[in-house]
Amino acid sequence: MLSIVLFGAPGAGKGTQSKMLVEKYNLTYISTGDILRKEIAAGTEIGIQAKDIINQGGLVDDEIIVQIIEKTIENSTTGGILFDGFPRTVVQAYILEGLLHRMNRRLLCLLSLEAPREMLIERMIKRASIEGRDDDKKEVILNRFQEYDKKTIPVAEFYKEKGIYCPVDGVGSVEEVFARLETIIDKTLENAYRNIILYGAPGSGRGTQAKNLAKKYDLVYVSTGAMIRDEIEKGSEIGMESKIYIERGDNVPDLIAIKLIEQKISNNPNARGFLFKGFPSTYVQAYIMDGILEKIHTSVTCMIEMQSNTLQCIRRLTQRSKTEKRRVYDMDPEIIIHRLESYENSAANVRSYYQKKNKYYNVNSDAPVDVVFETLCKTVDEALKKA
Ligand code: AP5
Ligand code: MG
Repeated sequence: MLSIVLFGAPGAGKGTQSKMLVEKYNLTYISTGDILRKEIAAGTEIGIQAKDIINQGGLVDDEIIVQIIEKTIENSTTGGILFDGFPRTVVQAYILEGLLHRMNRRLLCLLSLEAPREMLIERMIKRASIEGRDDDKKEVILNRFQEYDKKTIPVAEFYKEKGIYCPVDGVGSVEEVFARLETIIDKTLENAYRNIILYGAPGSGRGTQAKNLAKKYDLVYVSTGAMIRDEIEKGSEIGMESKIYIERGDNVPDLIAIKLIEQKISNNPNARGFLFKGFPSTYVQAYIMDGILEKIHTSVTCMIEMQSNTLQCIRRLTQRSKTEKRRVYDMDPEIIIHRLESYENSAANVRSYYQKKNKYYNVNSDAPVDVVFETLCKTVDEALKKA
């Protein structure tokens, strides 16, 4: 999930851009400056402690900052968080690491708005005449810059070392700057997630490979089949509804699959990406998959089809039916054939959906398990490199 820091000197445009980013990416907005100004206006204990420091252009105590951030995060309901004006010291950068760790999140990037000082001073003097912020007086502005240079600039180094520091040109119209931010966020999101679809006929060996592949590439494994079996076992409403489809060897209704996949995604806010197995299995589901990933601002990295000889698939499913891992739909040759037919009927369209996007790969899965795994890894590496 999207967590971003908007960084920059006083007047760089953090507040201005935040409003638009929060809306576009559906984020909880945490501006320590705004929160402190509200506390001052409300005359709270925190406000009383912060007032003089802010009016002199100094930095408020870390203890207070942690308190106000914790309070806001607890009340946050949206997917991601946008931090404006925090972290402002290296100590606060460590604090943010701790907070994110506790929330099982990670920071996507720190976007640093950059513009010449004279321009920033001009902007703030102009703002003073409109908003009348107490710290927008020339001498206080200079103090704020001094604090920024001494205590805040080192924060940039902290994130450069982490490889998530992104400088952004803050000169230009508000819209121009926003377009630059959008481009960087979208690109970073694309690269931050790796979403792999493992596709193939029943019995082609997807399940056998998927778990190891997910582990190797640090992906969350999303198997619609496994999730549905869990629901059936739990006796949940979704389970009861799905049972009849599963027993017939049919796909469950798309809405059920969507619900389960979205649940899995939201239960893993720290994921670096997902490995999907069992979905999409139809042309319509390929569209749905894009829709689901679009909601978390990412997309499919590659689709790998495991191609197997049909007789080999039948042999594997029949063999599985004699083991503990047997599925209800392995027991009846007619259902096996029905499932293979469904795959045959959809495969050309699903394949072409990803071929057109240049995201289609295939591997022969008739070889022994470890050989197939090796080929799959090579294919994933190739796809990631291309992406
Ligand atoms: P804070 O409120 O965070 O102030 P700041 O960092 O000094 O930044 P500003 O809010 O002044 O500028 P901005 O980058 O948001 O620019 P804006 O979009 O408004 O902090 C205030 C004080 O609180 C601190 O000094 C400190 O005491 C305390 N504090 C806060 N967080 C703290 C923390 N974590 N730890 C300790 N203490 C903390 O834009 C400025 C103006 O320019 C606006 O009028 C805008 O309309 C205009 N503008 C914006 N973009 C453009 C553009 N592209 N073209 C033309 N005009 C533009
Ligand atoms: Mg601001």
